[in-house]
Amino acid sequence: MGIFFLIFANSASHVIRNTFRAQSDEYFHVHARNFISKQWHIRNFSLHLFKVVAVNCSSQVASKEITMPDTITIVDNRTGKKFELPITHDTIKAIDLRQIKVKDDDFGMMTYDPAFMNTASCISRITYIDGDKGILRYRGYPIEQIAESAQSFLEVAYLVLKGELPNAKQLEVWRNKIKMHTLVHENVKTLMEGFRYDAHPMGIFISTVAALSTFYPEAKKVRDAANREAQIIRLIGKVPTIAAFAYRHSKGMPYVYPDNDLTYAGNFLKMMFKAGESPYKVNPVLEHALTILFILHADHEQNCSTSAMRVIGSSECDPYSATAGAAAALWGPLHGGANEAVIHMLDEIADIKNVPGFVKEVKEGKGKLMGFGHRVYKNYDPRAKVIKKMAYDVFEVTGRNPKLDIALELERIALEDEYFVKRKLYPNVDFYSGLIYQAMGFPLDFFPVLFAIPRTVGWLAQWQELLDDSEQKISRPRQVFLGPDARNWVPTIDRK
Ligand code: CMC
Repeated sequence: MGIFFLIFANSASHVIRNTFRAQSDEYFHVHARNFISKQWHIRNFSLHLFKVVAVNCSSQVASKEITMPDTITIVDNRTGKKFELPITHDTIKAIDLRQIKVKDDDFGMMTYDPAFMNTASCISRITYIDGDKGILRYRGYPIEQIAESAQSFLEVAYLVLKGELPNAKQLEVWRNKIKMHTLVHENVKTLMEGFRYDAHPMGIFISTVAALSTFYPEAKKVRDAANREAQIIRLIGKVPTIAAFAYRHSKGMPYVYPDNDLTYAGNFLKMMFKAGESPYKVNPVLEHALTILFILHADHEQNCSTSAMRVIGSSECDPYSATAGAAAALWGPLHGGANEAVIHMLDEIADIKNVPGFVKEVKEGKGKLMGFGHRVYKNYDPRAKVIKKMAYDVFEVTGRNPKLDIALELERIALEDEYFVKRKLYPNVDFYSGLIYQAMGFPLDFFPVLFAIPRTVGWLAQWQELLDDSEQKISRPRQVFLGPDARNWVPTIDRK
């Protein structure tokens, strides 16, 4: 039973030369198919047809050229029927499977893909990741180059949102627009004051971002591009202010209003840490470190929170509500909450000498090594590399975080250990970022908020792309229903 796939496809960009005995066409096809199946990982189906050049290695050398289509043929072994489906960009359309039925009135074949392990939900042109090679690019630019060369976070935000680097004039206009929107309505402050003194800052952040939709009701006109741009600018301008107010609220400290003469990161540091009336001087090393951290977190293609943004956005709700939903998805310890979990883990380990015992427990299935592993990266997360290097600059200013030595030892052991090597578990962005945040004076429960500020840019870029994509509709996955069949209601008195 089941479906049998015969793969007849490959790429024109990969003209495959292989040696086959061409005793018969049938013999040739079987070998060609097997060979091509093995090459299935080959990417770049940029052209529609491809050629296989078969060279007979026997004494009667004969050259054979076959042109094969970019399609996949599926044979349904339940019925013996064959289906030829088009392949585009290395994918088939799940909806094309619906024609595969046993009976005419069947619903038709679907794919089953819990957690979207192998489903492309959209076409995107924003962020590219090659998880095996450890590559991350925003709009084509490698993350290492961006981190090295970008002058400011807002420059990168422009790139992520608009697709191109801004020229000097465009950057100036863009910066000024964002700076015009850093203040929040005084009623937003009142709303925030309603939270308990010990409320989690991420809870305050999510609720306040959602509440912005009530201040800007026009935001629901999501099909109006100019209106959409206005909300994007507002959100990018206001999220650092809301984040800093959430922190000050939890500390019982008066709110500090935005200083638009400072950079995005510098202003945020001031709103967070300015005490009393004395002037606050932004430390340039910490400002630079925070700028880099913001840049590294700006987007990461279709991760959990971004998918949430797209799913919520697909109902055409306003961007404040969608961003709040995405931030909620980010909060969990398997996603943006992992850097906080790393610090808790390092606290629990407490001493370098306990590292081998901790690793042993992880391998026995008693917990995870937080900050390790990734759904996409099966190599060192390129963001973690940049952060690890930067940690030393920050510690020069703040003093060395004593947990760094435990982290380095954990990494050393894990990278040599067969358990982690076999599963391709490497440090991810969260492994070292928490150590830096902590050294800079951010409290642990504030870490996910620090992630949400820059990721707002990525969420909005993806939201905009979704709304401009004519192939997208309201998100509505299917299910495989295995619950009870129809049955009759039983009155309370008759229930056992
Ligand atoms: N420590 C120990 N074992 C692990 C870890 C880990 N951190 N991550 C995965 N594994 C094991 C897992 O138990 C499984 O083993 P087995 O094959 O024996 O069952 C195998 O590796 C495959 O793991 P998986 O759970 O199928 O992988 P996934 O793609 O579903 O999960 C992940 C990815 C990030 C949720 C997971 O690696 C994890 O929980 N890591 C720790 C949390 C963390 O650091 N999250 C931050 C992610 S990066 C920031 C972001 O982009 O959100």
